[in-house]
Amino acid sequence: MRKNIVAGNWKMNKSLSEGIELTNEIVSAGNLDENVQVVLGTPFIHLTSVSKLVANSSNIEVSAQNCSDKTSGAYTGEISAEMVKSTGAEYVIIGHSERREYFKESNEELAEKLNQALANDLTPIFCCGEPLEIREKGTHFEYVCNQLTESLFHLSKDEFSKIVIAYEPIWAIGTGKTATSQQAQEMHAYLRTHLAEKFGKEAAADLSILYGGSCKPDNAQEIFACPDVDGGLIGGASLKSADFIAIVNSF
Ligand code: PGA
Repeated sequence: MRKNIVAGNWKMNKSLSEGIELTNEIVSAGNLDENVQVVLGTPFIHLTSVSKLVANSSNIEVSAQNCSDKTSGAYTGEISAEMVKSTGAEYVIIGHSERREYFKESNEELAEKLNQALANDLTPIFCCGEPLEIREKGTHFEYVCNQLTESLFHLSKDEFSKIVIAYEPIWAIGTGKTATSQQAQEMHAYLRTHLAEKFGKEAAADLSILYGGSCKPDNAQEIFACPDVDGGLIGGASLKSADFIAIVNSF
């Protein structure tokens, strides 16, 4: 059966000492639901320190927020999947809408990033989601399916079984405007059916699909109760330990 996962995405927030403090608060809280896989998505330079802090926690892992689509070499400023793995991180967020928008990451480039992550034994959290104008036009199902088709459909069944998907409608990210649980459920179910056509029913049923976009302690319970929502990718609310822990404990 698929896992319930709550992943924090700290984005470009927290100095190293602040990140260590936040991690310590989460690790020492002692009340995290043990059936939830907790993931801390930190800036690159925090990965090693945070990985050490969670090493003895059975259900907390660390994630990068991006990796290069290249293996190694003369790419000044880039960080490879192999380097991420060497810090102790086990996950990497790929294709977040902010990377697609501000850094012009295309579906094709994201397919390469997925390959790099999988080749280095990292679990990719692959993000997808539509902008407001697409939602208003009513073509959001096709739009998001196309993101998955173009970035994922080259994977083998075995590779597919190692990934996690996060559906994040762009109009809900950082806006305080969450998708309703009905909107999240219908998109997650649609994506699962789309993926089942390519990878088989069983593989699609085993896939964890997370919801992201203004997920907070006061709405997480309702969203996580949807049958096709297997957890969340949490931005703003992952920066405060009490809020993040409350979300982890919302299943
Ligand atoms: P938010 O961000 O929770 O602050 O809306 C979610 C995300 O961008 O992953």
